[in-house]
Amino acid sequence: MCGIVGYVGPEASEKAIDVVMDGLGRLEYRGYDSAGVALVTDGTVVTEKRAGKLTNLRSALAAHPPADSATAIGHTRWATHGGPTDANAHPHRGGADGKLALVHNGIIENFHALKAALLADGAVFTSETDTEVVAHLLDRAYCRTGDLTDAMREVVERLHGAFTLLAVHADSPHTVVGARRNSPLVVGLGEGENFLGSDVAAFIGYTRHAMELGQDQIVTITPDTCSVIDFDGTPSDGKAYEVTWDAAAAEKGGYATFMEKEIHDQPHAVRDTLFGRTDETGRLVLDEMSITEDELRSVTKIVIVACGTAAYAGMVAKYAIERWTRLPVEVELAHEFRYRDPVIDHQTLVVSISQSGETMDTLMAVRHATHLGARTVSICNTHGSTIPRESDAVLYTHAGPEIAVASTKAFLAQITASYILGLYLAQLRGGEYGKVAAEVLTELHGIPDKIEALLGSMDRVEEIAYFMSDTRSVLFLGRHVGFPVAMEGALKLKELAYIHAEGFAAGELKHGPIALIEPGQPVFIVVPSPSSEHGLHGKVVSNIQEIRARGARTLVIAEEGDEDVVPFADEVIRVPHTSPLLAPLLTVVPLQVFALHLSTAKGLDVDQPRNLAKSVTVE
Ligand code: G6P
Repeated sequence: MCGIVGYVGPEASEKAIDVVMDGLGRLEYRGYDSAGVALVTDGTVVTEKRAGKLTNLRSALAAHPPADSATAIGHTRWATHGGPTDANAHPHRGGADGKLALVHNGIIENFHALKAALLADGAVFTSETDTEVVAHLLDRAYCRTGDLTDAMREVVERLHGAFTLLAVHADSPHTVVGARRNSPLVVGLGEGENFLGSDVAAFIGYTRHAMELGQDQIVTITPDTCSVIDFDGTPSDGKAYEVTWDAAAAEKGGYATFMEKEIHDQPHAVRDTLFGRTDETGRLVLDEMSITEDELRSVTKIVIVACGTAAYAGMVAKYAIERWTRLPVEVELAHEFRYRDPVIDHQTLVVSISQSGETMDTLMAVRHATHLGARTVSICNTHGSTIPRESDAVLYTHAGPEIAVASTKAFLAQITASYILGLYLAQLRGGEYGKVAAEVLTELHGIPDKIEALLGSMDRVEEIAYFMSDTRSVLFLGRHVGFPVAMEGALKLKELAYIHAEGFAAGELKHGPIALIEPGQPVFIVVPSPSSEHGLHGKVVSNIQEIRARGARTLVIAEEGDEDVVPFADEVIRVPHTSPLLAPLLTVVPLQVFALHLSTAKGLDVDQPRNLAKSVTVE
């Protein structure tokens, strides 16, 4: 939820502030209601922090440039305890001498009890945060032990909840200590310098050598060393890996916003997610799948758990996986799954979908599924993040870094990966669709070019968005796989343009939503391909007529050559032909583009919409 950066460089280095500010810039998508830094310099710790976006902190630092420093930590916040004020911004200090500074991502659930004890013992608090409690505890532990790592070990034992912590102390000027429980932290390994970050974007401008940390671990970095211990003090080895993308991938690349760039990245995201998944005979091979083929053959039910956009990818996946495997598939919002006593056993395959791999609700659902004996597969975009680490198997999407808060390319990559999983299971189970997997794959390989072509024809969608900039409400209708696409279209609009938007199953229209139709009401309709089975196309065309007759303004997304929709459409937005199950990879694109331009037309911040954070690491 918050972004965290730590850096230790060579003694004479002056670049700590630049590294940390650069890292915060790349992590701002994680939270952006306040930001701060702490620098160890000349036997003291200097902090600067400001409410509002990072630009406020930048201005404050420009007005009062800090002294040179080789060691620093930084934080960009999404407020939980205490509003977004200067005082509540991190870093927090502990103790009267102000020699210790701490940043935190997560929630300390027992902070009230800890705070009461500290107050009784004379501690003075300057913020309303749970974090400041930890700063005081750590300062006291440091005074006792004289060692920041030992102090951290003592303190984490007393904390309940989820946390990533980074701390510096003026008396240990070349050390940053970090700890993590249920919250992300990765190490960047440099030459004579080391880094810590909520994710690799924090240091990708400096090194691509990264190291995963496990659950309940403490890491201590100095310019030349990096040591890891478990919370109980047992030494541990982190798992080193190379980041496969570079700093340019995390930049806007000439686009006005990250979201626009990421929408245009989508052909690559799909292509890269498909890449290298077949052997020389054309059979799917998923080498990240550490569950045995026999175990997968014995699966009797699949449950997909996810949140937000990833949950809509899961809804799309349900249609395809059921069709191809003949296994029942349930899709559940991760936060609902955990608390409703789900019927799960060792023959259930629980598939989590998460771009970040850190969404707390999804992580907790995976843990719950494991506890109930299910096998777990993660579809994830972030190498080494917590959810894939805790799953039995992982199928990585290769969308590259997604920085805009509203998810676009990750959505398409998630759908693609879930298709691959479905086809793989179909292949293992034999049967009709095992045999056609190769055909479907061939068609999937053609999708990136179709997305490319579609992106080249979005001028009219952009115009429509600008004309509709004062619209108060937009409805979205879809059927079959078009239903989750409609929901995702509505979600994008809510997230980005802050207007009322709802997605409905087109078949449900006459059971209630049609009452919302009044003259001029804009409605997007995601029309199934005329080649769809069971007359679905005709049924949705009838829905368009029904709402048009009641005055709706119909914005129709239909396949090229589908002339049936024309008489009832105020606007027709064309998508290339594809088989019905794969259509979401195309039909969602105009809806993303629409939300992007409506938000832009309203003068809103496309990449960092109000109140949201990209990665929700609290429950
Ligand atoms: C947040 C983001 C959404 C995202 C959801 C799930 O709500 O704003 O864009 O879809 O989290 O995130 P995940 O990382 O688990 O895919």
